[in-house]
Amino acid sequence: MKNSSAIGCLACVLIWLSGVQAVAQSSKASTDPWWKHAVIYEIYPRSFQDSNGDGIGDLNGITQRLDYLKELGVDAIWIAPIYPSPLVDFGYDISDYQNIDPMYGTLADFDRLMAEAKKRDIRVIMDAVLNHTSDKHPWFIESASSRTNPKRDWYIWRDGKGPGQPPNNWLSIFGHSAWEFSPQTNQYYYHCFYIQQPDLNWRNPQVESAMFNMLRFWLERGVAGFRLDAVPTLFEDPSLKDEKVLPGTDKFGDPNESRVLQENLPEVHGVIQRMRAMVDTYSGDRVLIGETYLPNVEELDKWYGGAKHNELQLPMDMQVGFEPKLDAKEFRKRINDAETKIQGNQPLFVFDNHDNPRSAYRYGDGVHNKAIDKMLGTILFATRSTALMYYGDEIEMPTTEPTSKEQVKDPEGITGWPKEKGRDGERTPMQWNSSTSAGFSTNPQTWLPVAPDYKQVNVEVESRDPDSMLNWYKKLIALRRSNPALHDGNMTMLESGNEQVVAWSRTAPDGKVVVVACNFAPEPQVVSLQGAGKTARTLAASGRTAQKDTVSLNALSLPPYGTIIAEVK
Ligand code: GLC
Ligand code: CA
Repeated sequence: MKNSSAIGCLACVLIWLSGVQAVAQSSKASTDPWWKHAVIYEIYPRSFQDSNGDGIGDLNGITQRLDYLKELGVDAIWIAPIYPSPLVDFGYDISDYQNIDPMYGTLADFDRLMAEAKKRDIRVIMDAVLNHTSDKHPWFIESASSRTNPKRDWYIWRDGKGPGQPPNNWLSIFGHSAWEFSPQTNQYYYHCFYIQQPDLNWRNPQVESAMFNMLRFWLERGVAGFRLDAVPTLFEDPSLKDEKVLPGTDKFGDPNESRVLQENLPEVHGVIQRMRAMVDTYSGDRVLIGETYLPNVEELDKWYGGAKHNELQLPMDMQVGFEPKLDAKEFRKRINDAETKIQGNQPLFVFDNHDNPRSAYRYGDGVHNKAIDKMLGTILFATRSTALMYYGDEIEMPTTEPTSKEQVKDPEGITGWPKEKGRDGERTPMQWNSSTSAGFSTNPQTWLPVAPDYKQVNVEVESRDPDSMLNWYKKLIALRRSNPALHDGNMTMLESGNEQVVAWSRTAPDGKVVVVACNFAPEPQVVSLQGAGKTARTLAASGRTAQKDTVSLNALSLPPYGTIIAEVK
């Protein structure tokens, strides 16, 4: 009796102490916008949770899983398109921007999802597809109907060079010519993506105003912001000159070409500045995130508006998470670039999304995949970056590519088979448990097959395993919240004296230092981070040998692809 009350009392003090810490921290950080410290979780809605047994994920399914997301530590969800769509590009071909596709639910379901998310302090970010509509959108149907239709100029129509010849050599990202002939009016229209995704003409101010109105519709419904789809593709060079032909052929068998006349044209920045000004008229720190595949960090900086900070708050940094090889030197440079070359703006790292094989698959060596994945998680959560993750990353969901052309759902994989298998592999249903369809659906037939490893790799199994990816993610996300250095400390790259190890420190406003080291090699490494201090207390470590509570910074050993996060004593 006595003992238990003493324990009870101690628990009270601990709770009180942690409460004090939390209050102190939140008041200090309260001037920062929420997105600066956020973990943003991308949901591919078809594949997250099916609530009505049709084998396709839906909005009510997402609502059912909000408690899970809360427990994981997610601050915001970005939901890939849920608008009415003929689904050629699974939602990225929109036929009505201001509604919900019946397959996913209704606007009432959406409002309920928003309300339930709000109760849990989870924000909702919508996908804004601005470059193109579906060819079934009423705007395009009108535009295609005659050369004199008032909407004609909303899209990019041109005469061919000659009979049967498109206006120029531009290629679609999904293969073959970017021009489609429309016999109705004997002209071609431009499509950067699928034929069924005609590009809007952003040089026409009516297009901008229609799209801004659409954004307002969702802002007024309470969304926290937008992820701007394929936003560097809004403008094309009006000269319509041919792109330069490069040696060799691409995965679709077309000649390699530059894309400088089709992507990242400077005109786009004017649109983004006006959009930012419009979004800023809404309260509550609404955020603009960009899908910004760019050639280098200098281009990335422009998407923030550089030192003016008047464009996107969070253009995605694709330099780090999509670096082709797991190369310590390249990662060190790219992480450092994000710290030093974007004029104090906030980096947004991302390793995974619905368009690329998952990072474990891209960087895995088949032997150390789990360690490698834990290391990538460390880069995502223990740098100063805002963290953008993709559903299933937290359980190390596999990439399961189709094994025959007949199985492929993503049209890109049909055009490109077998070199390009499409994006089905990274879109398989979320693996919740070992039951029918991994708990994703009560239907044994799901829109894409559940990955075969679901009985071992799922949320339920991993919750019980202290060494699982799920528990690693939870731990890192919790640390990022509770440890002041990891929460909003400055970041400096450290010289580890070892080329294979990428290390950095985070310094809290009160001067406390946390060091982080990642071993990029399949062999164990020893490093010295002496500059940061003598010894440190381990906060998190992956791999066996580094789990000691106190470690020496003079000789810090890291297992293959091991990482350590430790607070300097
Ligand atoms: C973006 C999306 C991708 C889509 C394309 C066209 O890259 O992420 O899934 O196919 O834009 O909208
Ligand atoms: Ca475009």
